[in-house]
Amino acid sequence: MVPLEQDTSGQWQTTLPSALFFGFEDDQIDFGRQAISRYTAGEPGRLLRSMKSLLGGSFMGDKTQVKNRQYTFDEIIGFFVQSLKSQADKFTGSESSELVSVVMGRPVYFNDTDKKLDKAAEDHLAQIARLAGFKEVSFQYEPIAAAMDYERQVKREELALIIDIGGGTSDFTLIKLSPERHGQNNREEDFLANHGVHLGGTDFDTQLSVNTVMPAFGMGMPLTDKEGLSMPSAYYFDLATWHKIHLLYDRRVLRELKNLRPLVSNKLRLDRLLEILALRKGHQLASMVEQAKIALSLQPEAHVDLAALFNEYQEIDSCAITQTQLQNSLQRDVSKIFSTLDETLNQAGVTHKQIDTVFTTGGSTALPMIQACIDTAFPDAQHIAGDLYNSVGSGLLMEAQLRYG
Ligand SMILES: Nc1ncnc2c1ncn2[C@@H]1O[C@H](COP(=O)(O)OP(=O)(O)OP(=O)(O)O)[C@@H](O)[C@H]1O
Ligand SMILES: [Mg+2]
Repeated sequence: MVPLEQDTSGQWQTTLPSALFFGFEDDQIDFGRQAISRYTAGEPGRLLRSMKSLLGGSFMGDKTQVKNRQYTFDEIIGFFVQSLKSQADKFTGSESSELVSVVMGRPVYFNDTDKKLDKAAEDHLAQIARLAGFKEVSFQYEPIAAAMDYERQVKREELALIIDIGGGTSDFTLIKLSPERHGQNNREEDFLANHGVHLGGTDFDTQLSVNTVMPAFGMGMPLTDKEGLSMPSAYYFDLATWHKIHLLYDRRVLRELKNLRPLVSNKLRLDRLLEILALRKGHQLASMVEQAKIALSLQPEAHVDLAALFNEYQEIDSCAITQTQLQNSLQRDVSKIFSTLDETLNQAGVTHKQIDTVFTTGGSTALPMIQACIDTAFPDAQHIAGDLYNSVGSGLLMEAQLRYG
């Protein structure tokens, strides 16, 4: 694995978060941690995150406005892949040739229900990689890559369940692993099932935000003119969802919200919402909620300092989020994830008891709630927590060595 980016403490990391920042002052594009830190430092510009969730959607071919230019999502993902490749090329040094082959990881489904859109997402990604200069492009399912990584430490044949819960998707693979067959080309017979669902950490952030911070901006407040009617919740779901926040900055939406002002029961809250939008602080709010979620992996309570979002003093308390609120907010998504896991076992006709090892990877598997659900579902299996961020990458690297030597 090659160093791709230095983190804030100057340490080189082998991962590059899929974020991209267009700076409006210097017209520079930055990537990864650098992109996120320029954005959170308050520099004017546009941040794009969770780009993988754009693939597989019906809006894949859409364009988005950045400053005075329109970019297709393909172009934007292309900038990212190009920068990733050029950093990796730099590392391989002038004496070795440029990188020409790539094995790209992919979720089990880019789209849960529409096979055509799923295929289109893979085709788009392959085309983007070719435009970036790769001659040979192939794919591997991310949980299978994680299985290959884990198999290096397997001592005897076992039935393993690989769980990869990341930002956008939860993926499962049921596979027979063995030291004898490790690194062999044809493993078809060992794959028992591969399944997944489009739910992950960014959905958890949305739910947590809607349940805890959005009421401070007027979510759920009654409209005074009609009995039983309350503020439309769609605005708040958008504000709590990374790739939808920018929709609220549209002038038409702002006008709609202003028109509601005479009707709302709590004008202060609506004004707060309008100010957050005027200040373009939606992404910052979302990232504060995400940080609170991550902090709750280690402590019973976390705070979201809402007042820090505003330039002038606001009569607004910091919002405290408890472990229990986190659990309640995630309950529905987590049940769906675990019922998809059950479907994975059903597909293969395997019972929970037959699983020897559960191997976990992906940032969201750090959640105590997820860990607890795994312990309850598989009390007899050995439970191995893999590297949260590097397991899939290591497996893809092994696959690339096998395919392209
Ligand atoms: N300690 C933690 N507790 C809870 N969630 C965490 C923790 N650390 C990271 N996460 C979450 O993990 C997610 C990122 O995980 P990861 O990097 O594995 O995703 P990804 O591979 O980019 O996405 P995907 O696999 O879905 O395409 C984010 O939603 C992040 O908030
Ligand atoms: Mg992942």
